[in-house]
Amino acid sequence: MLRVDIITIFPGYFREVLDFGIIRRARAAGLVDIQAHDLRGWTSDKHHVVDDRPFGGGDGMVLKPEPIFAAVESLVGAKRRESIAGGKRVVLLSPQGKPFSQSLAAEFALTEQLVLICGRYEGVDERVADALVTDEISIGDYVLSGGEPAALTVIDATVRLLPGALGSDTSAVNESFSDGLLDCPQYTRPPEFEGMRPPDVLLKGNHAEIERWRREAATEKTRRNRPDLLKP
Ligand code: ADE
Repeated sequence: MLRVDIITIFPGYFREVLDFGIIRRARAAGLVDIQAHDLRGWTSDKHHVVDDRPFGGGDGMVLKPEPIFAAVESLVGAKRRESIAGGKRVVLLSPQGKPFSQSLAAEFALTEQLVLICGRYEGVDERVADALVTDEISIGDYVLSGGEPAALTVIDATVRLLPGALGSDTSAVNESFSDGLLDCPQYTRPPEFEGMRPPDVLLKGNHAEIERWRREAATEKTRRNRPDLLKP
């Protein structure tokens, strides 16, 4: 069973989103246990302050290191990256991170514990990235107001790869990115919709022809929308 611990100042954000579809089924089947923890629970001052002004000046507030280090110590049993057990990953979500990818999701699906630290405000004290986490990850080249939607994205991409998470009629093998191409286009009934028809080859049932069409259509779609994936 994969254990996922989310460290956030908005634990309520995750209350309902984890209750749908594949994630809900995986949780119900005991494949994953997901807990969202309030970072403020690891503060020791009266007002539960988690942020402070940046050294050197500038706009905005920075998440303080002490509550985050305390949270990871209590959830993982390690005070520094070097003492984190193999099979555990401690991830900081931030726009400065390495790009998230299908292959990273596949690595995470093999772990026993995934801790996701959601950044907020204008940043997180850099000592967290320097000394505490195993991975600093971005989900894309845009700035979110916090790491929560990014954590959700990492959870979704990871949980659906857990053995048994997808129904037997679905497979994670034949899909976008697992072979470096986007998925081929799919069609379903009706065969004619407002004058638009699927390619005839899909309606005829010649499986070799269908396979050939799908490979070519996937390549064409990739060339059009993601030419970067075709570059050597
Ligand atoms: N926090 C803010 N923006 C982010 C991004 N693009 N990826 C991960 N975490 C973030």
